[in-house]
Amino acid sequence: MILVINFGGQYCHLIARRIRELGVNSIILPYKTSPKKIKKLAPNGIIFSGGPSSVYKKRVPISNKDILRLGIPILGICYGQQLIAKQLNAKVIPEKIKEYGKKLAWIKNKKNLFKGLKNKEQVWMSHGDSVSRLPKGFKILALTDTCGIASFGNEETNIYGVQFHPEVAHTTKGNKILKNFILDICKAKKDYSIKNLSKELIKQIREEVGKNEVIMGASGGVDSTVAAVLLKEAIGKRLHCVFVDHGLIRKNELKIVKERYKKLGLQVEYVDASSVFLKKLERVINPEEKRKIIGHTFIEAFENKAKQLRKRYKKIKFLGQGTIYPDRIESAQPTKQASKIKSHHNITLPKKMGLKIIEPLKELYKDGVRALGKQLKIPKEILYRHPFPGPGLAIRILGKVTKERLEILRNADHIFILELKKSGYYDKIWQAFAALFPIKTVGVMGDQRTYEYVISLRAVTSKDAMTADWAKIPNHILEKISNRIVNEVKGVNRVVYDITQKPPSTIEYE
Ligand code: XMP
Repeated sequence: MILVINFGGQYCHLIARRIRELGVNSIILPYKTSPKKIKKLAPNGIIFSGGPSSVYKKRVPISNKDILRLGIPILGICYGQQLIAKQLNAKVIPEKIKEYGKKLAWIKNKKNLFKGLKNKEQVWMSHGDSVSRLPKGFKILALTDTCGIASFGNEETNIYGVQFHPEVAHTTKGNKILKNFILDICKAKKDYSIKNLSKELIKQIREEVGKNEVIMGASGGVDSTVAAVLLKEAIGKRLHCVFVDHGLIRKNELKIVKERYKKLGLQVEYVDASSVFLKKLERVINPEEKRKIIGHTFIEAFENKAKQLRKRYKKIKFLGQGTIYPDRIESAQPTKQASKIKSHHNITLPKKMGLKIIEPLKELYKDGVRALGKQLKIPKEILYRHPFPGPGLAIRILGKVTKERLEILRNADHIFILELKKSGYYDKIWQAFAALFPIKTVGVMGDQRTYEYVISLRAVTSKDAMTADWAKIPNHILEKISNRIVNEVKGVNRVVYDITQKPPSTIEYE
């Protein structure tokens, strides 16, 4: 196992992810972790992450320097390297110009850390300080034209440092460097697997929850379902799920979710709050107002159910959530465009409910969640579902949300998705859905004039929803979808296909 000590760097989780990709387990711990605790954990090696601070300033993250004397191999990355230098009485100085981006490094020592590398390799730098004098017993292993000590090392104590970031893809041989450190220098065992991860997470949940019980909101989506099944594996019937039907869900969704959750053995309370939501949305047109109303009403509905359940099950002390790692970085970034443009609603209820939060997936990325879900035997239809926004169809009906419009949209969307699945395109797309424009246009059907709504089809490809491109679905598929919608969905006489990217558009319409 490799320990990653977190000094606040934005790539800390990426380091852990790279280690796991090599088949080795890795744990991230805060910089304050004591040498005693580290000794007890007996890692094969330690990586000091990067971080935005300067080691010579006050009130910056400094780990206990005895960690360097535990006899465990250490690799310091960026700030991590500078910290090693400082703690071993070398020198770190501020650079006049911050160095950022791709650089060419001369590899001076092609043993150990840099085994298998060429004389010159591309590396990726992002720093304002650098090590200007070596610690005693250390050698320079690599340098660039502007950074005299791009890497140093002491082959006797197995302590190394790199100024650049081996964990990012722009460092061409980054993975090889990490592999050399982790497998050859640290001699870590390749015992990380999804099976072991699932066992480990279940063990952690049991320890954390003890004899208490957990309540959680489950939406039928990937993350909350995987989290719920994992919790169920750990604590069985002491997990109580709540599905709030806000009446803004897709066609047949309640039935589908009920069947799936039953098969998965989840214990779920279904709350039908659809009339409350519709009533509150009756006159609302403004998208932000819609989102706020839905967010608050959702919390109310969940809390009411939670109160009832807590009367019945007195030991409910935890609120389970399907939060994954990217959710945490996004919500921690006040500058994130999307959160300013739209108030995204993910259920973050708990503070006043007095429940402790348990988030078993909080260190995972989406692909990890899916792999874990597969291990837990969750069907593919759940694991590879397109994302669906919390406020549901309300933000896909531009203008007033009415029962009639919901019905039209549900039917059109259903045909769209069905045809995409039939054609094999569903899995190639990040997200596809229909939206209803609250305007009517003239058409002709069987010699009769019609005056009906417009349906817009939106399908995008994307990696993370931050940027997206419109999906190039073949014309014959679009044609079939359009024909079916105008013929089968009463109230629609025109279908358009959205060909805008994000940015400048967003994926959803409101
Ligand atoms: P936008 O429209 O901002 O959407 O480009 C980016 C991604 O986020 C989803 N989305 C939401 N998800 N609650 C959610 O859980 C929300 O309020 C919400 N709004 C948008 C959207 O479907 C897309 O995948």
